[in-house]
Amino acid sequence: MAVLDKFIINGGKKLSGEVEVSGAKNATLALMPATILAPGKSVLKNTPELNDVFTMIKLLKHIGAEISFENGILTIDSKSINNFSAPYEHVKKMRASVYVLGPLLARFGEAKVSLPGGCAWGPRPINLHLEAMKKLGADIDLEEGYIIAKAKNLKGSKIHFDVSSVGATGNALMAAVLAKGTTIISNAAIEPEITQLALYLLSMGAKIEGINTSRLEIEGVDTLKPAEVSTIPDRIETGTLLAAGAITKSKITLKNADEKIIESILEKFKVCGCKIFSENKKITIDCIDADLKAVSITTSIYPGFPTDMQAQWTALMSLANGKSTVADTIYFDRFNHVPELNRLGAKILVEKNIAVIEGVQKLKGAKVMSTDLRASACLVLAGLAAEGITEVLRVYHLDRGYQRIEEKLKSLGADINRVESKEY
Ligand code: EPU
Repeated sequence: MAVLDKFIINGGKKLSGEVEVSGAKNATLALMPATILAPGKSVLKNTPELNDVFTMIKLLKHIGAEISFENGILTIDSKSINNFSAPYEHVKKMRASVYVLGPLLARFGEAKVSLPGGCAWGPRPINLHLEAMKKLGADIDLEEGYIIAKAKNLKGSKIHFDVSSVGATGNALMAAVLAKGTTIISNAAIEPEITQLALYLLSMGAKIEGINTSRLEIEGVDTLKPAEVSTIPDRIETGTLLAAGAITKSKITLKNADEKIIESILEKFKVCGCKIFSENKKITIDCIDADLKAVSITTSIYPGFPTDMQAQWTALMSLANGKSTVADTIYFDRFNHVPELNRLGAKILVEKNIAVIEGVQKLKGAKVMSTDLRASACLVLAGLAAEGITEVLRVYHLDRGYQRIEEKLKSLGADINRVESKEY
């Protein structure tokens, strides 16, 4: 068995002080493939140091890009790209690898991208990505687990998504900016990470109207030029750290945060009894005297409560006063964290896509593990509040999407340590 890191958390410590939020994983993972569209050197500032970012770097290097990454500044030179294939070894590690499909097709007229397959909490299809490429004139074949996409010239088209999809909107947008003529994407995703992608494409010379709305109108251009961008703050890391403040009944401040893109989350913290103050890119949560009321949530597309925060909210609610429900309408099966939380003493039942949570007075430390990123974040939160020692195994899930979360929590006063482990 491989040697893997685990966290050892001695729970019950109050947190205090300030900590910085990193750049958004899901924005970076869209901005990086966008650089394929503009031959030359693009600069992505405030890029988080995450394993998913390193996977995307490997993939872009594999197709021929030259890359340097230092102090959060990622420079991608896409001039030398000469290979249009995203192999299974990268895509199986990270579904966002499929983002190279649109840009490769748009710039080179061909792409071979491994099908991502299932994910830890169930099927996550990419049919909408493929339909969008077909609408833009691409021929799509599936061969031996790969998407084989070809198009001499992409042509503008009307693309309507029956389901709002972040990834399919991003891929369609990146393909349409170099397609001939006008493309209209309706029921487009308006998540802040997609808005940042659209604004970035605009700065490269793309013609896009309706940014930040669910109807994007794109007038294809012949070429794009490399540009510089600074990644927006990660709204899910922001929410997770705020939840760390809440679950330990502490007062902490987050720097480099953007309260405007997490209104739905802040609102729920307020109803829960936490005080929230924000100014000058700082958000403070004060839960020192909070009674932590039970507050139900239902996930939905932006600006609703994000699915990527539901596991963390479930951890918080497991210690709230009273009964609450957490319903996930985006991913019906995303409840891997529930049995693990119950091992810490939580009282949660899952019925279809709804977790019914009976708040308990305390959680007690135990060994826990999970099979995905946000579920693991939820277990860290629970460990911070639980009595005694909680060991969170399979920390590599957290490293995919949180930049050294244990160091950030430690700087706030948490007793959390990363140690090598032989347990899997
Ligand atoms: N869907 C389809 N067909 C498709 C694409 C999506 O049916 O072709 C469905 C999905 O099954 C889901 C819904 O549409 O029910 C929305 O999925 P979406 O395409 O928006 O998700 P995604 O682009 O694959 C991104 C984030 C996820 C986040 C979701 C929802 C990135 C790299 N990933 O995924 O982030 O949960 O949007 O907001 O941007 C995470 O960070 O932990 C994470 C999983």
